[in-house]
Amino acid sequence: MAPVTLTQISKSFGAVETVHPLDLEVKDHEFLVLVGPSGCGKSTILRMIAGLETVSGGEVRIGDRVVNTLSPGARDVAMVFQNYALYPHMNVARNIAFGLRRRGMTRAQVDEAVLEAARLLEIEPLLGRRPSALSGGQRQRVAMGRAIVRKPKVFLFDEPLSNLDAKLRAQMRVEIKKLHQKVPTTTVYVTHDQVEAMTMADRLVVMNNGRIEQVGRPMDVYAHPRTRFVAEFIGSPAMNFWDGRLEAGSKGLVFVAHSGLRLSVPASRQVAYRPHLGRPMTLGLRPEAISVAPDHTDARDTEMVTIKLVEPLGVETLAFFDVGGVESCARLDPAHTPRAGDSARLTFDTAMMHLIAPDTGEVVTCEGRATGGASAPRTHEHVSHQRETTP
Ligand SMILES: Nc1ncnc2c1ncn2[C@@H]1O[C@H](COP(=O)(O)OP(=O)(O)OP(=O)(O)O)[C@@H](O)[C@H]1O
Ligand SMILES: [Mg+2]
Repeated sequence: MAPVTLTQISKSFGAVETVHPLDLEVKDHEFLVLVGPSGCGKSTILRMIAGLETVSGGEVRIGDRVVNTLSPGARDVAMVFQNYALYPHMNVARNIAFGLRRRGMTRAQVDEAVLEAARLLEIEPLLGRRPSALSGGQRQRVAMGRAIVRKPKVFLFDEPLSNLDAKLRAQMRVEIKKLHQKVPTTTVYVTHDQVEAMTMADRLVVMNNGRIEQVGRPMDVYAHPRTRFVAEFIGSPAMNFWDGRLEAGSKGLVFVAHSGLRLSVPASRQVAYRPHLGRPMTLGLRPEAISVAPDHTDARDTEMVTIKLVEPLGVETLAFFDVGGVESCARLDPAHTPRAGDSARLTFDTAMMHLIAPDTGEVVTCEGRATGGASAPRTHEHVSHQRETTP
């Protein structure tokens, strides 16, 4: 096991720079998840670590070794792909063992390694079967077994669960995490699924267009996104955004959306937000910060809306409504959810608000969250070229 250090690595295909120079460190034993929309460069980064793709610039280090010029086989990494091609004519045991003999292991050692992996993955009873007689999840486990027996320094996963149905995906998510707890091999896991990213990562790396938008622990990224992109990408259903501006009210700053929605800025944010008074800004608020107002409520931070659609999910109900032409979503208590067509007074908890500068897409930092210990209120710096530091 070993850390992986990427220093200013970049990738161009012809004239197109697909991955802009970036720095990233995967700590020893860490489970790091690269997440971002299709085409943002996740697989390219993984393939550069694996050695399946050359780097156009920068340095890839595994442990103490610079591996830029090493072939994939010499890097001591194991990769599990979305299409985990198993050999159809070999049974599970031989699929897992494939390649081990060539590495100089004796038959007895190979048998032992296969059995150990099969026990870990709970596929011992399947060792004699061919892949055609396995379910998707079982095949996926065999592919992982093949990676495990090599005892690599680093595991690289590229969307290994995307071929599975939703239920199996959720199950395998847990199994991969459990496996990592038992065998804490340094792991880089690529997915475009933000739920997978949130639930599996020790730290996640949110990517956009060949750049890193933010690196951090999942709950930290969720609670303190640095950019609108991250705010929108992480979290389901997505954060609500309303355009407007900050105005000075009698009790401090108020965000006034173009729709007329007025939301008071919490006392703790007054200082940080004041420099943005009068400028066009965007307010972001997650669906869980919106609830049905209690009867006879003070009208502050509330709005009458017409509920257009409800989605009962059991534990909660999603309610969709328009605020000034912007479709918005609230996560409501199913016991007190209005029905479609009802008018409802909703209350907006601005303690959870995010203020975003629409020109840069950066979230305004608040007290205690400013990077670099700066006390002056400001927006976040671009993070794409910064070396990641532990929060
Ligand atoms: N061999 C190649 N030649 C030219 N362009 C390429 C090549 N490989 C990848 N690209 C381009 O680089 C960009 C990043 O691709 P990459 O496969 O890394 O994306 P990704 O984030 O893994 O996306 P997905 O979630 O769809 O797998 C894409 O625009 C892709 O078209
Ligand atoms: Mg990919």
